[in-house]
Amino acid sequence: MKKILITGASGLLGINFALTAQSLGYEIAGVTLESDIGRTPFELSCMDLTLPGSIQKQIEDQKPQVIINCVALTNVDQCEKSPEAAERVNAALPGELAYETARRNIKLVQISTDAVFNGKCGGYVEEDPVSPTNVYAATKLAGEKAVMAEDSEALVCRVVFYGWSISGTRSLAEWFFNKLSTGEATRGFSDVIFSPLLATDLAAIILKLVEHDESGLFHVVNPQSISKYDFGQILARQFGFDHSLISPASIMDAGLIATRSPNLNLKPDKLLSTLGEDLPDQKTEMSRFHQQYVDGYPSLLKSFNMK
Ligand SMILES: NC(=O)c1ccc[n+]([C@@H]2O[C@H](COP(=O)([O-])OP(=O)(O)OC[C@H]3O[C@@H](n4cnc5c(N)ncnc54)[C@H](OP(=O)(O)O)[C@@H]3O)[C@@H](O)[C@H]2O)c1
Repeated sequence: MKKILITGASGLLGINFALTAQSLGYEIAGVTLESDIGRTPFELSCMDLTLPGSIQKQIEDQKPQVIINCVALTNVDQCEKSPEAAERVNAALPGELAYETARRNIKLVQISTDAVFNGKCGGYVEEDPVSPTNVYAATKLAGEKAVMAEDSEALVCRVVFYGWSISGTRSLAEWFFNKLSTGEATRGFSDVIFSPLLATDLAAIILKLVEHDESGLFHVVNPQSISKYDFGQILARQFGFDHSLISPASIMDAGLIATRSPNLNLKPDKLLSTLGEDLPDQKTEMSRFHQQYVDGYPSLLKSFNMK
């Protein structure tokens, strides 16, 4: 059985990755920064991975064959205000991880972002020029480059996803769910396009790439792109909520600090040909998200919250 160390295991992707990998038979250890989650069905430790020696200690304690790096500063506007912190966590830390994995023959998966593109045209493949529009995206891109410079066997996945989280407030889908389930009106950006996968499916797909021993850059996204407004509409219909509670809005009027990329339609063609299989469309993914709700998955995740 392969042992996987998941850094950022309390985050939206990290917790879904850990539970999915465990259900597929992998042995899991997780690391998180704060100590406010517990009762996870896998070993979890708290450590600031930016502290000297912390990465080496985790590797020596856990002896993983694979590391999935889900650590990041993901608050885009906060990164704009604190560029040095974003650089430390999103760029320098992945490079330090890759330095260690290259020397110890550990497979590193660096989780990157669709936001490395400026979103002016969409339809992006891995070879297309990148042009980040904010500090978050620029530091994530620097993280990709640092990983590839240190560890030629590392797998770098540009992703975008949604799912259930421990706090119940981390993903766009939870945002719509929380509003609509209480009958509250909300807005969805009709001029922002993305290609999200359900976090649990994203994890399973990345694990297939690991099992294929793939390395280098992959767009691990849904083949179907969609506006954030239409995403909300699909969610409302799937859950039987009043979809007229969501009105279309423009991101230009949202008063956000950092510039966002409008059209993040990424193409997963390299992924599809590598795996030799199709990926589910948005409605299928949403029906799985709904089934997780029916099965009590959000309550399970909330039970890990010790706050
Ligand atoms: N959400 C999206 O749709 C999206 C889109 C594109 C790319 N991504 C990428 O996907 C990855 C996961 O994102 P996410 O949304 O799951 O992130 P998230 O929910 O914000 O979780 C980030 C994780 O990093 C941990 N962390 C932060 N600083 C740390 C440090 N110094 N030492 C140890 N752990 C630290 C956090 O721990 P605490 O909880 O203890 O603070 C948390 O577990 C990131 O690389 C992100 O850039 C996300």
